[in-house]
Amino acid sequence: MVAISMYLFAASVALVAVYLKYLYRRRRRDEPPMVPGGLIWGNCKEFGEHAVRFLHKSNKSCGDIFTIRLLHQYLTIVMDPHSYDRFTREKNFDFDPIQKQVNHNVFSFELINPRKMLKEAGKTVRGHYMNNIMQSFSKYLNETFADISTKDILGNLHEIPKGGKWCTSNLRVLTARTVFTSLFKTIFGNPRPEDTFEPMSVFENFEIYHKYFNYMWLGLPSSLFPAATKALKALVKQPCSSDLLSREDLSHYIRFSTEYMLNCNQAEAEIMGHNLVYLHVNYNTFRVSFWAMYFLLEHREAWVALSTEVQAAIDEKKQYCSNDEPVVFNLEDVDSLPILDSIVKETMRTTSGVFMVRAIAEDTEFEMENGQKYYLRKGDKVAMYPPALHKDPEIFEEPEQFKYDRFVDATFYKNGREVKNPVIAFGSLCPGKRLAITQSKWFLMCLVNMFDLELLEGQSTCPDSAYHGHEILPPKNDVEVRFRHKDSFQTLSFE
Ligand SMILES: *[C@@H]1O[C@H](CO)[C@@H](O)[C@H](O)[C@H]1NC(C)=O
Ligand SMILES: *[C@@H]1O[C@H](CO)[C@@H](O)[C@H](O)[C@H]1NC(C)=O
Repeated sequence: MVAISMYLFAASVALVAVYLKYLYRRRRRDEPPMVPGGLIWGNCKEFGEHAVRFLHKSNKSCGDIFTIRLLHQYLTIVMDPHSYDRFTREKNFDFDPIQKQVNHNVFSFELINPRKMLKEAGKTVRGHYMNNIMQSFSKYLNETFADISTKDILGNLHEIPKGGKWCTSNLRVLTARTVFTSLFKTIFGNPRPEDTFEPMSVFENFEIYHKYFNYMWLGLPSSLFPAATKALKALVKQPCSSDLLSREDLSHYIRFSTEYMLNCNQAEAEIMGHNLVYLHVNYNTFRVSFWAMYFLLEHREAWVALSTEVQAAIDEKKQYCSNDEPVVFNLEDVDSLPILDSIVKETMRTTSGVFMVRAIAEDTEFEMENGQKYYLRKGDKVAMYPPALHKDPEIFEEPEQFKYDRFVDATFYKNGREVKNPVIAFGSLCPGKRLAITQSKWFLMCLVNMFDLELLEGQSTCPDSAYHGHEILPPKNDVEVRFRHKDSFQTLSFE
């Protein structure tokens, strides 16, 4: 008996010691208020169940900056949208360790001198490079649009359905066969017939792998998730770097990153890991396109408004070219369509799950935009969670509703002042933001131009909030649609 009580006593002392050392702490003067949470897990449960609701509730009781605890990690959340610039410019808020953690835990590689590499590589997705990328993306997209009506998913040829015959498909599969396939080929060039590293099988493995993404970047070993391990094994079966570099249609980005990593004597496995990260980032374009397409189908008036806008832009251009030539659009043309722009922004607002987390490199006095100062501790993390802004009813009326024209000539206010960045779907650091948005826009233009598309009776879905932390949330379930080529349409081209 005595032995057992001694044992229990010792065990409780050990537990309390662990608690005091790792979990408990006292708030210091001028630190943000702490949100009360469970003894061991902190705020994990509420945060995981519905992050936006939890953060809004904490904002009510604590104000617009507060600290939460996820297991042993203290995380200060800045809720004030006006403090966005201060947050992104604070030099003690460091993204490097976060980026390292993702690369290491999820994709098993490390970048040597990541800042330099990302700065240089970032250039290859902007300016005139971006135009080149858009040209090849639009060429591949045109090919895939032809394929979806003439080939089944296994690549077997069919007659082109005539006389307005409909084809049916799952919407995600349809988006994968068009947008994802075009993104993939734009990045890695056209795969050869014998390649197993080809768009649709990579897509399927990515779908599996992404389910475990949050667990893995937090550092849980991938061996806990056999399905993920199997998917990763397939994903790293890639052509070697010399094979990729020999492809004329390889993207500038991958050419640059591969040569850079080879120069740093990095191993093939690390180059392949990095290729996957790049594909993972591009995957957001696929997700935005999926959602935009879904909302267009769910809100018929949005589809009609967009078709009308695109048709008017085509008619305007057609006055100046002969009938059998493609109508040519450039970047400015695509950017000048207000309804298209609003649909893409509204899509990102309703479906983004991005978490902008930074490590606090030094004890920092952080001044909010309203002049309030707070002390933040070295070793903690600090974050903004854009979905909580995107769903703030003071900024966006009826934030749960999709309103396709919400962003047409609109400005948004919080506490009486204009919010400069009302939609922050890709965080502040993504160099390919503009490219991703332009690719989604071009896809939608070509889609409404060439196809009739409808949701099948009774089909619906919504973003899966269990995946917060993913830049764009995946849907809870796929939906079935039917589509057919329009009898006649204008050929479009991007230059
Ligand atoms: C958070 O709290 C601040 C200060 O009390 C308030 O102005 C703001 O509207 C709140 N935000 C949300 C999303 O509730
Ligand atoms: C798109 O593909 C079709 C064949 O499916 C072709 O006739 C057309 O010229 C292509 N358009 C462009 C702009 O490449």
